[in-house]
Amino acid sequence: MVKPVRKAVLPVAGMGTRFLPATKAVPKEMLPVVDKPVVQYAVEEAMKAGIEQFIFVTGRGKHIIEDHFDHAYELEALLRERGKTEALNGLLEDLPVTGSVSFTRQQRPLGLGHAVWSARHLVGDEPFAVLLPDDLMIGEPSCMAQMIEAYHRVGGGVIVAAEEKPLEDVSRYGVITPGVVRGDAIEVKSVIEKPKPEAAPSRLCVIGRYILQPEIFAELDKHETGAGGEIQLTDAMARLIGRMPFHGVKTNCARFDCGDKVGFLQANVAVGLTRPDIAPSLRKIIDQFTRS
Ligand code: UTP
Repeated sequence: MVKPVRKAVLPVAGMGTRFLPATKAVPKEMLPVVDKPVVQYAVEEAMKAGIEQFIFVTGRGKHIIEDHFDHAYELEALLRERGKTEALNGLLEDLPVTGSVSFTRQQRPLGLGHAVWSARHLVGDEPFAVLLPDDLMIGEPSCMAQMIEAYHRVGGGVIVAAEEKPLEDVSRYGVITPGVVRGDAIEVKSVIEKPKPEAAPSRLCVIGRYILQPEIFAELDKHETGAGGEIQLTDAMARLIGRMPFHGVKTNCARFDCGDKVGFLQANVAVGLTRPDIAPSLRKIIDQFTRS
């Protein structure tokens, strides 16, 4: 019996330099895919997986993320006054339960590993999920639900190593050395962050979803820097392999990198085309642009 995964860490302290100038004053996690900020999709995905507590690791200039998960009294009063019941109910339904959301700060953006380490006291001594909101995962069951299902079978650490990337792209990701395949779970024999293509052990790349054991914090405590001079989560995981099982899971979810301009546009089109209220007009516009 493995311990249940009740908590999720959402690191949102990155600077979003790939999306400037939009991200100068607006956190990239608040950019909308159709009509919802990117970060809300991650929270909904985690909720569908049974996560009960959401721990955001924020930084300076990110306070509007806190506001997004709070009541907006003036707006709610105005919607009520104008009889816009549907919009009002939508806002209220999206609010997480009081006390289920907490925020801590990563005072300096020293890397993803450091961001996760910043949440150590809020996580405590139990397994936890990590969701990088700019990786938008669309599919049913939710990506995190698929991972938790696999975790209950294999235990230890679980990462999404969903994507077999072209060799020239692997140097942007963590890459795994695959071992034994157990259904949808692949044993991870080692993992390396941003390898040169010629040094990549495979083309199976890690994307922004993890289930980790609290032992990761002792590794992150060492504050060792890796690729790009950052404290890398991948390096801490790599040091744990051998002391506990690690598996990669392939999901059937579509992934959109919303931290990248083209990935973000792609997400808007893909999600827009699934929305009955938007799809017909969007399809017409796409036809207009692609007809020439
Ligand atoms: P990214 O590398 O995609 O985020 O980190 P970034 O640094 O904001 O992006 P660019 O490359 O400059 O555009 C993946 C995730 O880790 C978080 C980011 O917010 C994102 O969710 N992160 C990264 C932190 O919280 N702190 C950090 O120090 C670095």
